[in-house]
Amino acid sequence: VWSAVPSGPPDPILGVTEAFKADKDPRKINLGVGAYRDGNGKPYVLSSVKKSEERILTSHPEKEYLPITGLGSFTQNAAKLAYGEDSAPLKAGAVAVTQSISGTGALRIGGAFLARHYPNAKSIYLPTPSWGNHTPIFRDSGLEVRQYRYFDKETVGLDFAGMVADLKAAPENAIVLLHACAHNPTGIDPTVEQWKELSDLIQEKKLFPFFDMAYQGFASGSTSRDAFALRHFVSQGHQVALAQSFAKNMGLYGERCGAFSLTTADAEEKARVDSQLKIVIRPMYSNPPMHGALIANGILSDPALYSEWEGEVKGMADRIISMREKLYTTLNDLNTPGEWGHIKSQIGMFSFTGLTKPQTQALAEKAHVYMTADGRISMAGLNGNNIDYFSESVSKAVKG
Ligand code: LMR
Repeated sequence: VWSAVPSGPPDPILGVTEAFKADKDPRKINLGVGAYRDGNGKPYVLSSVKKSEERILTSHPEKEYLPITGLGSFTQNAAKLAYGEDSAPLKAGAVAVTQSISGTGALRIGGAFLARHYPNAKSIYLPTPSWGNHTPIFRDSGLEVRQYRYFDKETVGLDFAGMVADLKAAPENAIVLLHACAHNPTGIDPTVEQWKELSDLIQEKKLFPFFDMAYQGFASGSTSRDAFALRHFVSQGHQVALAQSFAKNMGLYGERCGAFSLTTADAEEKARVDSQLKIVIRPMYSNPPMHGALIANGILSDPALYSEWEGEVKGMADRIISMREKLYTTLNDLNTPGEWGHIKSQIGMFSFTGLTKPQTQALAEKAHVYMTADGRISMAGLNGNNIDYFSESVSKAVKG
């Protein structure tokens, strides 16, 4: 029956983990997938998460189905975290929000909802480059995927003029996907001033902003600073779509815990949107899993756990920043050809190193160092024990 099914390529990000696992060399390093590792290279379960989970286990919650849109207290708290306590649409009861299967699920619900209900627009503009899964998610949602310029190879920075020109040229009503903070894969974000300009432009051109916020807290160590772009747009009267993930900032990767929301005109409109979100979700997976949402909600609803969690997010962000410093210094000490300042100026989990595809291949084959083919490294995979070996390997690969 399946004789005509062609074999597909490995996933550009998760496929790297498969190759890493198959490598038996003890020096191997995986900087592919964006998953935090502690200073010893080990997966990290946050103490606030452990405490929240212990409370759940001792209270023996029911295993009933959640509603289609998930745990209500969790989605309310997730929206508060993103939009801020003082958000006008939140106070007006005008934010339609649903739990999702982490950030990917949120984007997929959003894509499907917009394809069905957003008037006129069937196209979504993604930055070049963007997270590798964005294109298939939105294509499978039934949207036409287009691109706007984002990364400038020459300056290893933001191509703001190109971005503005492409958004100006986009047709009215087009959807624009924006990485709210810690752009994946480049680690380059617009400045506050540039975000303000983008907000004006997107309003003027009647484009629809869809924020993907997978790293709130991870970019700067502050959850409110990282929400600046989203909150600014909302304060300027934009109606927005938002995908949130708790994979990175709470380390809840495998729990698949996230949220999708839309700001609406008022509570009556919100109720109609809610009813249609349910109709999108029910045939996809019926209703979401409970455990991750209970953990996240335990943290978001308890002031002591919340402040412990904020400290832990900052701790992760700070460790990554310290690795950036160390990598920059070591590459320079080794007289590695090229300018490496971007390693320090980029933010979030990733650094877009500028390493070429042949160099990344050579690093995997000769040095057992794994990263995505576009030269992105997950900074969180570096630590005091492997950073010297990594730097020496990169230096060799660049020298050729
Ligand atoms: C990444 O970009 O590495 C993460 O967002 C994990 C994933 O699912 O791709």
